[in-house]
Amino acid sequence: MAIDAPATPIDVASIKKDFPILAVEVHGKRLVYLDSAASSQKPTAVLDAMDRYYETTHANVHRGVYTIAEEATRLYEDARKAMARFIGAGSPSEVVFTKNVTEAINLVARSWGGANLHAGDVVVLTEMEHHANLVPWLQLKAERGIELRYLPVGEDGLLDLSDLDRTLAGAKLVAFTAMSNVLGTLTPVRRIADAAHAAGALVLVDGAQYTPATATDVSELGVDFYGVTGHKMLGPTGIGVLWARAELLDAMPPFLGGGEMIRDVRLDGFTTNDVPWKFEAGTPPIAEAVGLEAAVRYLETLGMDAVRAHERHLTAYAIDTLTARYGDDLRVHGPLDADQRGGVLSFAYKDIHPHDLSQVLDESAVCVRAGHHCAKPLMRRLGVGATARASFSIYNDEADVDVLADALADADRLFG
Ligand code: ALA
Repeated sequence: MAIDAPATPIDVASIKKDFPILAVEVHGKRLVYLDSAASSQKPTAVLDAMDRYYETTHANVHRGVYTIAEEATRLYEDARKAMARFIGAGSPSEVVFTKNVTEAINLVARSWGGANLHAGDVVVLTEMEHHANLVPWLQLKAERGIELRYLPVGEDGLLDLSDLDRTLAGAKLVAFTAMSNVLGTLTPVRRIADAAHAAGALVLVDGAQYTPATATDVSELGVDFYGVTGHKMLGPTGIGVLWARAELLDAMPPFLGGGEMIRDVRLDGFTTNDVPWKFEAGTPPIAEAVGLEAAVRYLETLGMDAVRAHERHLTAYAIDTLTARYGDDLRVHGPLDADQRGGVLSFAYKDIHPHDLSQVLDESAVCVRAGHHCAKPLMRRLGVGATARASFSIYNDEADVDVLADALADADRLFG
């Protein structure tokens, strides 16, 4: 496999200085954080923006008419504009703030699905979905008898699209991830979206792993609903986005009821606010929106093409290093070509249980996730109960991969 240098190098040494947590030592050793697919770390720019907001501006939004309340509202709505720009939305009003992608998908299932899916209607998913894109549809199946079909995962870790048209026939919605959180597989979003539309279905894409790793343009992807989560893209926890085409949001009933999402409330009924606020009941995550905008600006300064080039390079380096060193003792799940995957690397090492492996790696201050990664059907498809998973971000470099490779040898000594 060719391990080309990234086209636009990311200066990792300088980036590492922007992330205070990377100066932390664990067991007296430098922290090697390889779990960004679960949650990325946060640069000082994000932490400072949130502190500054709480120290100087905090008030509730869309309510007070005094100066700091108006400033808080401006900051909150500016964050919406920044996210719209970051994912290529036509208008900020198509960007609904949610808690995360899980909530974004539940919103679509309950609101759009509640109004449009009836017994016998077909929703197409894939075998590589996160539970967040399985359970809401399984709930609708149990509650109202919708039919679920699944696009299979091939031995190569790619989606098997050989029966795509037949699977899509008669479907109302196709919902799938743009990048697997287990295999790293990048899915052919545009191809599936075009086929789904030709079959008369709408398309929902889970962008939780894709948007932190790749330049995202929802209109180029050709989708109808798209979910993003803030804490995987250098932003804070507790905030995410549902993007949807304006006419879909306009027609959809509200999800949660409460303050903010209404225009008027009487004792015998209510009328709803305009989108996107129709879907934002209650006091929203204001400081988190401010932090998310800072994260967007940080990533925009680096350039998402440079981010992708860096993570592609590191993934290729990791696959090459680990397989060259450990041969058949280490099995990488998913495609081996870094062009077909993002920086998420699930692997099996000898017959050491992933949880044991993760605990031993922690002795070297290496953080990897072990478990089913909220993708139990995919684990069953792979024939494993769990995997160890290393995942990369802009603050990782080849030295981090080398520490992981060395730490695996320690695990071997302990368990071998
Ligand atoms: N979805 C997150 C992961 O894959 C939590 O780790």
